[in-house]
Amino acid sequence: RKVRVKVPASTANLGPGFDSLGMALNLYAWIDMAIAEKTSFHLIGDQMKGLPTDKSNLIYKVAQMVFEEAGVHHPELEIAMYSDIPLTRGLGSSASAIVGALAAANALVDNKLSNDQLFQIATRLEKHPDNVGASLFGGIVVAFWDGDRAEYIRLEPDEHLEALVAIPAFQLSTEKARGVMPQQVSMKDAVFNLSHSSLLVAALSTGNLDMIRHAMKDALHQPYRAPLIPGMSKILEEAVQHGALGAALSGAGPTILTLMDSRSGRKEELEAFLKDTLKAEHIEAEALWLKPS
Ligand code: HSE
Repeated sequence: RKVRVKVPASTANLGPGFDSLGMALNLYAWIDMAIAEKTSFHLIGDQMKGLPTDKSNLIYKVAQMVFEEAGVHHPELEIAMYSDIPLTRGLGSSASAIVGALAAANALVDNKLSNDQLFQIATRLEKHPDNVGASLFGGIVVAFWDGDRAEYIRLEPDEHLEALVAIPAFQLSTEKARGVMPQQVSMKDAVFNLSHSSLLVAALSTGNLDMIRHAMKDALHQPYRAPLIPGMSKILEEAVQHGALGAALSGAGPTILTLMDSRSGRKEELEAFLKDTLKAEHIEAEALWLKPS
């Protein structure tokens, strides 16, 4: 028996919601999994180049965790993966692989584990719940992880919400982008983020899209990460003047996320602004219009 799962990409943080907000986007990875005589991998497509094709493969290892938890003897697996989600760019590619592996393995054991159990495993692996939560549950996920349990609430995205992402051609590891952050922050910055993140969640959950303009601001991570992504600060500051509802670094970057109300009629203007700003910094980037998924 073969199972196939389709998992969305995700954008984490949405600006102020560091390690706590995530949104699924309609860019996907597919994982096929079947119990086999001997473990084998078919990693299809450019995104998969260079990933291990032995039992050190993340998908294989994650699947074995599900079998372990479900009390099923560790089987050999035939695994295939195809992904349109660019690697190490801040669009949750590793979270999508983890969630896909969990969901596929769970389907092979007749869904013995609940979604909540899968969420706990995925969060422990990623060390933050934002990307995995969005990939697993879809829509917008508000979550925390206290090192023990992860809790979340899923919000239905407004039907008019659209995202334009600029995906730079270079990779940036989450480790590096977390390494530049300070160990401590001021009370002022903490309160800044708390209030903006709360307002953002309220705006997203009530469909008050105009309020996103005021809420999508951050003092905890983006200012420190800005030097790693030339052009980012200008986009974050000025995207709203070009029709965006707000702009943020997507996860740990380097992808930059802008949100737009699909009724604004300013898509071309925003796309040109993003492209021109990055070009001026000699950053090659692909611009992609996406919808929450
Ligand atoms: N919340 C995480 C971060 C997401 O910003 O580091 C990236 O994996």
